[in-house]
Amino acid sequence: MNDPILRYTLVERVMHWIAAVAFCYVLATGLAFYSPHLYWIATLLGGAPTSRFWHPWLGVVFAATLFWMLKAWLGDMRITPADRKWGDSMQHYIRNEDENLPPIDRFNIGQKYFFWGMLWAGIVLLLSGAVLWFPELIPWSLRGLRFAAVLLHVSSALITIGLFIIHVYMGTAVVRGGFTSIIRGEVSPAWARTHHRLWFQRVTGK
Ligand code: HEM
Repeated sequence: MNDPILRYTLVERVMHWIAAVAFCYVLATGLAFYSPHLYWIATLLGGAPTSRFWHPWLGVVFAATLFWMLKAWLGDMRITPADRKWGDSMQHYIRNEDENLPPIDRFNIGQKYFFWGMLWAGIVLLLSGAVLWFPELIPWSLRGLRFAAVLLHVSSALITIGLFIIHVYMGTAVVRGGFTSIIRGEVSPAWARTHHRLWFQRVTGK
């Protein structure tokens, strides 16, 4: 009756934590390259040449995990009319009145926007990063592309940083029980019913 419910399979958790580790690494080394005031981070992470070597590779790993998530979670990440209804009742969410919120499926609209934001910003980071990785392949007549790549790389990185801060804050401090689920995979039936009632009904048939 009170058996835990599987929220994230082992494969989903491994996928998530590869994404998290890769993101933290590219974030830390990227910040080191961004400002001389943060250059000490590169020193801590094995020196500038090591950081410069691994930054683009871990960026590729991060982008790959985003496509992996897309494949695994596409069905759960589509925005539905139920999400819009939930989004319109946001004031109840902010006031912690979860019982007044309309039921939603596996993810709420905030989680879905977070995912799509990360995916699109990640694609821009990957493409602009490729230009910065192999500048010698860009002919001088296309130098505007190099300048655009610098601007796009920094601005999309800033978007991911903003999304990341909100995600970690929501996942660890606001929604209690969420963090355990991405570590151990399971949630209690009460948690599932409170936060994701349609998903709870779908997986339990209750
Ligand atoms: C140290 C960093 C991170 C922490 C502590 C963290 C925490 C969490 C938690 C607690 C959940 C489960 C939320 C729930 O089911 O209610 C989750 C899910 C998820 N995480 Fe992370 N995460 C981190 C990094 C990342 C990164 C870098 C990405 C990049 C794409 C990411 C993408 C996702 C996605 C798409 C989900 C499923 C939907 C959602 O809950 O937003 N996470 N994460």
